[in-house]
Amino acid sequence: MTSSIRLTHHRLEDGTRDLLGKEITERVTAAELEPDADEAILARIGAQALSRYLAGEILHGIHMFSVTARHALLLQNLPTQRFPATPVNGFGTETELAVINALHFGLVQLLGITPFAVNYENDGRLIRNVIPNPAASGTASSWGADSEFFWHTDNPHLPFGDAGANPRLYVPRYLTFYAVRNEERVPTELAAMEDAVGRLDELTQRRLQSPSYEVSPPASNDAGAAGACPLSDTALLEQSSEGLRVRYDRGTTRARTAEAGAALQTWSDTLATMPSKELCLEPGDFMIFDNYRVLHRRKAFRPMPPQNARWLRRCYAS
Ligand SMILES: [Fe+2]
Repeated sequence: MTSSIRLTHHRLEDGTRDLLGKEITERVTAAELEPDADEAILARIGAQALSRYLAGEILHGIHMFSVTARHALLLQNLPTQRFPATPVNGFGTETELAVINALHFGLVQLLGITPFAVNYENDGRLIRNVIPNPAASGTASSWGADSEFFWHTDNPHLPFGDAGANPRLYVPRYLTFYAVRNEERVPTELAAMEDAVGRLDELTQRRLQSPSYEVSPPASNDAGAAGACPLSDTALLEQSSEGLRVRYDRGTTRARTAEAGAALQTWSDTLATMPSKELCLEPGDFMIFDNYRVLHRRKAFRPMPPQNARWLRRCYAS
């Protein structure tokens, strides 16, 4: 079974990586830059340098990603920098990471999308450190490790949004990642929604498109905060002008009728057998995927000692 994931994949030449790293390093060292206060400046520095050094074919792939409805993009061999120990308690000193923050926000800018944070999650900060936090042990969270994350989409308890809307009010359209370290070699798995829907009978598809479900916020949201309330009378599959969109998190989705419950069970069983693509991110890799059309998961893993534990940097963008 081959996955229908349409992935744009490019790898920078070592020479390009080095020139890009040198230019960005020079530009960010003159002053302290922090992601939440200085996002626009970091994006400007990163986007300028990327536009200057990336090959035309790669820049074209980045520019076209969202308009050509690709599922995901992987850009490898970007500059790295000297990295501190993995901040396994959640947050570290962001000003030490200005080079990779400039790259991350620069790429988001070139992709033509807007990074955003919400105040009821991740302390309201733009960059989420995806790390094995000992305090999240046993939970299905981006700070967990020992529990498997079943197939899901992020923040499915929000309505879907369209281009031009305030992104904070809606399901994040895209998840973007920069990989700092992944010595455990834990893959991020992506699956195209089409591969699941195509395996469903018509009745199940219809039931999943009926407003018969309640979807609660994931555990990473601050309980009780405005914006982190359950979404009632919602469908799991919604038709839009661009095609079907999916919201799903097994742990937080409840069916309101027996028929909806049967469809939910069929959906969950189908996800367990659909084809997917495993991306094992390495230091210097950037990945983006469409959270409206891609389901993702991560299997349980045993983290390295905190100094070298798996560390991805995630930012929502719409
Ligand atoms: Fe997730």
